[in-house]
Amino acid sequence: MISDLLTSIEQKTYTVGIVGLGYVGLPLMWTFHENGLSVIGFDIDQAKIDHLRSGTPYIKHLGKEMMQSLAASDHCDATTDFSRLKEADAILLCVPTPLNQYREPDMSYVISTTKTVAHHLREGQLVILESTTYPGTTEEVMIPLLEKHSSLIAGKDFYVAYSPEREDPGNPNFNTAKIPKVVGGHGEDALKLALALYDTAIVQTVPVSDTKTAEAVKITENVFRSVNIALVNELKVVYAKMGIDVHEVLDAADTKPFGFMKFTPGPGLGGHCIPIDPFYLTWKAREFQENTRFIELAGEINTHMPEYVVEQTIKALNTHKKAVNGSKILLVGLAYKPNVDDMRESPTFELFHLLEELGAEVAYYDSYIPTIPPTREHVHYTGRKSIEWDQATINGFDAVLISTNHSDIDYSELAEWSDCIIDTRNAMKGINPKNGHHIFKA
Ligand SMILES: NC(=O)c1ccc[n+]([C@@H]2O[C@H](COP(=O)([O-])OP(=O)(O)OC[C@H]3O[C@@H](n4cnc5c(N)ncnc54)[C@H](O)[C@@H]3O)[C@@H](O)[C@H]2O)c1
Repeated sequence: MISDLLTSIEQKTYTVGIVGLGYVGLPLMWTFHENGLSVIGFDIDQAKIDHLRSGTPYIKHLGKEMMQSLAASDHCDATTDFSRLKEADAILLCVPTPLNQYREPDMSYVISTTKTVAHHLREGQLVILESTTYPGTTEEVMIPLLEKHSSLIAGKDFYVAYSPEREDPGNPNFNTAKIPKVVGGHGEDALKLALALYDTAIVQTVPVSDTKTAEAVKITENVFRSVNIALVNELKVVYAKMGIDVHEVLDAADTKPFGFMKFTPGPGLGGHCIPIDPFYLTWKAREFQENTRFIELAGEINTHMPEYVVEQTIKALNTHKKAVNGSKILLVGLAYKPNVDDMRESPTFELFHLLEELGAEVAYYDSYIPTIPPTREHVHYTGRKSIEWDQATINGFDAVLISTNHSDIDYSELAEWSDCIIDTRNAMKGINPKNGHHIFKA
């Protein structure tokens, strides 16, 4: 049976089903499509399917062309009809893995999707989980559910693998096809099939011993980022007190050709991955009576950053003989990082909240997010609109706090228009304030 699937993979005659068409699933769909493969996208969100069918974008940085090309294609379809999972030879799951209110893994999306797949599973299919998760998920959660609800046996009737996604949304140098893919299989056949599958569309595959090792690779990458970001955030606070510019230090340190990797401080951690994924490991480690002290400490430092930024904002206003209470403050950049429209876990929300709590009148500017859509955590902000970017409007604010350095902003113009700028991203690097104007680093 493995030989049938392997042959269709090698001959590129297979169909791939992608479940969950968000920031990860959509570019993945595009990657397989671009390599001439038949693709069916599945999502429970009818709006995304409508966008895909009409060719209108729902993730800004991926652009119109991709959507129009997918909509016009004769080998790409998108649906909410999960009975069509049977048409796919390989099924890749890219559903969310958030934390619940107790900061424990919320596996509900993985579980419900796995059950749906199990109900439609047929012999000879390959199922691959791509969502970020703790080591052990594929073996302990997915496979038992797939077997229970399909009465088929993994490794004999169907194949299971885990391959983490390493998407970096908005990074023009790397798209899905160009990022090497780590793959762990449940058994040798599954590994062989999964490697062959990704080899048809992705630059390089990196096999590891099993699914839990592949799961650990992804968590390790994100713990590494979280800990290093915390380190530079801590250095920023210490160096600021010493009158040293952390960005100048980091740029100079980055000239060392070995043994140093530059991370950049900011107003806190954001996005669907770095603030969340490390805690999947923390949760799992408890089962083994182990603590993850680095993860906890990094979480503590990074979570404290918005408070630090607010303290710096209070000091900046003070320089202008103003109190935060009653001041009009503009937050520039709502997305968690530059040049994307993703605002999940964005620290700007925390800045919004903290400043409003202190009595400030807060507004935001972000061309990527003209209106704040409904979110689970920030219901209170739903429907708020970005201000217009013009001199008269910007002049009306007592302070402008740059929380995300989108590259479509003219920062020199901002320096002309605002007399009190608090910069958390080094966006004003090289720009001198006018007489009587101030740029504060935070
Ligand atoms: N966003 C990133 O940059 C990134 C990078 C690497 C890894 N990841 C990981 O990839 C996974 C997906 O993240 P994302 O950012 O693409 O999430 P997302 O929220 O953008 O997309 C998830 C999609 O899954 C759909 N969905 C939810 N439940 C479903 C179900 N039962 N059946 C079908 N579809 C369902 C949602 O409607 C949504 O369209 C997560 O585990 C995340 O940690 C994300």
